[in-house]
Amino acid sequence: MCGIIGYIGTRPAAPILLEGLRRLEYRGYDSAGLAVLDGGELAVRRRVGRVADLARAVPEDQPGRLGIAHTRWATHGGVTEANAHPHLDASGRIAVVHNGIVENMARLRERLAAEGVRFRSETDSEIIAHLVARYYFGLAAGSDTVPPDLQGDPVESVRAALSRLRGTWGIAVMFADHPDLVVAARNGSPLVVGLGDGETFLASDAHALVPYTRRVVFLQDGELAVLGAAGVRTTRLDGASVSLDVHELEEDWGDGERGDFPHFMLKEIHEQPEALRQCISGRVQPEQATAKLGGLDLSPRELVGITRVGLIGCGTAYHACLVGATAIEQLARVPARAEIASEFRHQNPSIDPDSLYFAVSQSGETADTLGAVKEIRLKGGRVMGVVNVVGSSIARECGRGVYIHSGPEMAVASTKAFSNMVAALYLFTLQLARARTLGPHEGRRFAEELQRVPALVEEYLAAPGPIDALVRMVLDARVVLFLGRGLSSAVAAEGALKLMEVAYVPCIAYPAGEMKHGPIALLEEGTPVIVIAPRDHLRDKTRSNIQECRARGARIALIHTAGDDIAELADVAIPVPETSEWFTPLLTVLPLQLLAYKAGLALGRDIDRPRNLAKSVTVE
Ligand code: F6R
Repeated sequence: MCGIIGYIGTRPAAPILLEGLRRLEYRGYDSAGLAVLDGGELAVRRRVGRVADLARAVPEDQPGRLGIAHTRWATHGGVTEANAHPHLDASGRIAVVHNGIVENMARLRERLAAEGVRFRSETDSEIIAHLVARYYFGLAAGSDTVPPDLQGDPVESVRAALSRLRGTWGIAVMFADHPDLVVAARNGSPLVVGLGDGETFLASDAHALVPYTRRVVFLQDGELAVLGAAGVRTTRLDGASVSLDVHELEEDWGDGERGDFPHFMLKEIHEQPEALRQCISGRVQPEQATAKLGGLDLSPRELVGITRVGLIGCGTAYHACLVGATAIEQLARVPARAEIASEFRHQNPSIDPDSLYFAVSQSGETADTLGAVKEIRLKGGRVMGVVNVVGSSIARECGRGVYIHSGPEMAVASTKAFSNMVAALYLFTLQLARARTLGPHEGRRFAEELQRVPALVEEYLAAPGPIDALVRMVLDARVVLFLGRGLSSAVAAEGALKLMEVAYVPCIAYPAGEMKHGPIALLEEGTPVIVIAPRDHLRDKTRSNIQECRARGARIALIHTAGDDIAELADVAIPVPETSEWFTPLLTVLPLQLLAYKAGLALGRDIDRPRNLAKSVTVE
């Protein structure tokens, strides 16, 4: 978690750093800070709270054409100004920003303290500033002397300091005595260098660089980069040279700005029709009634040879995996399982080389999902990305995959990425099923219906039904129960997650048939139960569960197919347009997204930046 931005060039650095932080704020928003080089001294400002609070503390005419900045999601140490980055060495002439975790913090801290270092924060990151200073100024104690050739060498001092760390890092380091460089390094936390004209940028995410340049270099794990105004030089941590791989960022649709919407979340909910079109278009092949996902590069023979599919993700991405696994198994007749990445990676999974795994992630940076990818690859398995952010760590680690093309998703609560993950997994389902079991007639029906979905989503969002009545049901609830069967049980889980994270309302989601095995004990007069029951082959079974809840005094909110008389059973009924059973999740999830948004608003929550959360979770 945490976001880093750096700049060296000819323009005032502070406004560029602040704009970069604003674009990276989704990565953490506990505190923010920056350091710029001003007349041979480091000018440092740090604030608890948002980037806007920091911006108020930075003079408009702040001089300095080199700087580094950071937005923090707290791991080691509370949310205080002392723990905010940048961290300085004792002389105040070296500044460091860090994204990651120093695992051998305790031992290093103890040794540095024994050498006389006084720590000003509780963070692991401060250690890095002191370690760099130790080599740069030759501050070693006792027999542990610093080689003289390291002293005064900024790059080699950083290299030596990093060789002492265990853990993960994306770092940027600046020196008051070196106005011509910023040193950066990556190991497990993303960093991208942006190449401008006489200026060079650094960021945790390429999106932050888009206003300035589209020419970027993605640093690899174990690399160290020296940024100057004229460009960048990269080496391995051990000093071996690496060739520079410059990428041109594609034009992204969606501008990452809120426009006329009061919140990103609402904007992104309304972007779903267009996002889905971006995901589907050009990928359906009507003549063969199949789909083609070029990034997977799988021949029909390879498709037929797949023995199992594993879908791995966290949070909302995991819920998309649940939908994908059901579709793959039922339509393509290949055993398929959704896995929670944080569990999967630590279970010593047995990986069959004929299986195919998908790592599903909006950000492409989620540490647990990335860890699962590495575990699969280590065991000789095949894993491909289903990812939104182009060039992200998961996309690059997988090498092959599908971009879901949702456009930038800025709200912490994921909405349009869920829909596009599901759509991308449906495209794969079609491709796989057509190579194996599905006839052209059924394939064409599936493809045509999928192509109709964006218009149906549009139709629903234009007339979303009595969401306000739904909001009133949940506002003072002690708990809200979400129920659904089959594909709708994944939607129930997603609806509960959204309402919890945006409105902080306690929620439980269960497959409807499982309710009577425990959660039914929660029901009392007035308990809100939100049931997702579109017209599908399980609807009548869910109908019985609704009756069971009503009999115990629960109030029922029902998400159902328009025109279905099941609505009679509900206290609040929200119809969604009719579609084939397969695509119901893309419609039934919409009222639940709106419910979370509007409940959050009614309760005065910080919609786009819910407490304690961050958009990409780059720690385990
Ligand atoms: C929920 C949410 C999180 C993410 C999860 C995975 O609204 O946003 O649950 O879905 O942290 O993130 P990605 O998809 O970036 O791997």
